[in-house]
Amino acid sequence: MNIDHLRSEFLEAIADAGDLDTLDQVRVAALGKKGRLTEQMRALAGMDPEQRKAAGQAFNALKDELAAAIESRKAVLAAARLEARLREERIDVTAPARFEAEGRIHPISQVIDELTEIFGDMGFTVAEGPEIETDFNNFTALNIPEEHPARQMHDTFYFPEKEDGSRLLLRTHTSPVQIRAMMAAPPPYRLIVPGRTYRYDYDITHTPMFHQVEGLVIDRTTHMGHLKGCLIDFARAFFEVDDLPARFRPSYFPFTEPSAELDIGCSREGGELRIGAGSDWLEILGCGMVHPRVLENVGVDPTEYQGFAFGMGIERIAMLKYGIPDLRTFFESDLRWLRHYGFAALDIPTLARGMTR
Ligand code: PHE
Repeated sequence: MNIDHLRSEFLEAIADAGDLDTLDQVRVAALGKKGRLTEQMRALAGMDPEQRKAAGQAFNALKDELAAAIESRKAVLAAARLEARLREERIDVTAPARFEAEGRIHPISQVIDELTEIFGDMGFTVAEGPEIETDFNNFTALNIPEEHPARQMHDTFYFPEKEDGSRLLLRTHTSPVQIRAMMAAPPPYRLIVPGRTYRYDYDITHTPMFHQVEGLVIDRTTHMGHLKGCLIDFARAFFEVDDLPARFRPSYFPFTEPSAELDIGCSREGGELRIGAGSDWLEILGCGMVHPRVLENVGVDPTEYQGFAFGMGIERIAMLKYGIPDLRTFFESDLRWLRHYGFAALDIPTLARGMTR
């Protein structure tokens, strides 16, 4: 057995190993349990002591030398592999971005954002309330007593009667949140309430679930002029028509007195609706001065505080602004519809654009 021969054979193999796997094979072939060097060392057992000592030292030295050579070769190969990966896997940050499928904002969400921004700029905050309501909040406190015909008009979804005879309901409008807000904190109030409402009704212009936004402003001197100014400013900002004609038409709600509906000017010439032009009128919301009895019902003194409320259908104003013909399509979750009528994220064309034009 020639130790020099083994040495040069393995040193050469180590130097020749082009990658870490090959290098490891060399290591196993030389120093592994069944490696050549290990075998030779085992063979020392059969030698006489003198020979064994000299040969043993020589083999041990060779073993250390090869191990060191493998380690340093390993460092070189690992560095080379890292270099190669860095070269191959480099990201070109200047390459054009890959197209990602993009979601759309539903027109209802978009319009709620727009309303929030417009009324937010006027100092309103957003309030919310539950969709399952008590009879008291939805009707009684709003001056709609038990046998009032308005209850029939609301096509209410009721829950089964409880033992005490009371029954919960799905709120038929966002007005119960007026009651909740006024019972929760002392006046003044300046809030809007966007949310879902429910009525037992279904045709081209009615769905059993729809959205409203409520508004409530109560302070010591809030009067009808504030109601008019606020709602006309809102309509002009929302429809983005600075000189939008507006009129308040007398109406009736049990919870406001006087009550009115706001109409905006439009034209329907050639079957095409154009907002802000022509001599026709289009109803967009209900409003009025909050009835003193409603204030009494929530413990607000009507000789000290007064103000106005309004409510409008969100689908309705969305359809008018964005030319969406059929209410029912809002809730069909048809992606083609959403791609067509939906909005890109962060596109809120409201006050800034509406008022500066
Ligand atoms: N709650 C009324 C409705 O649903 C709208 C309204 C709200 C009217 C507030 C006046 C004041 O029809």
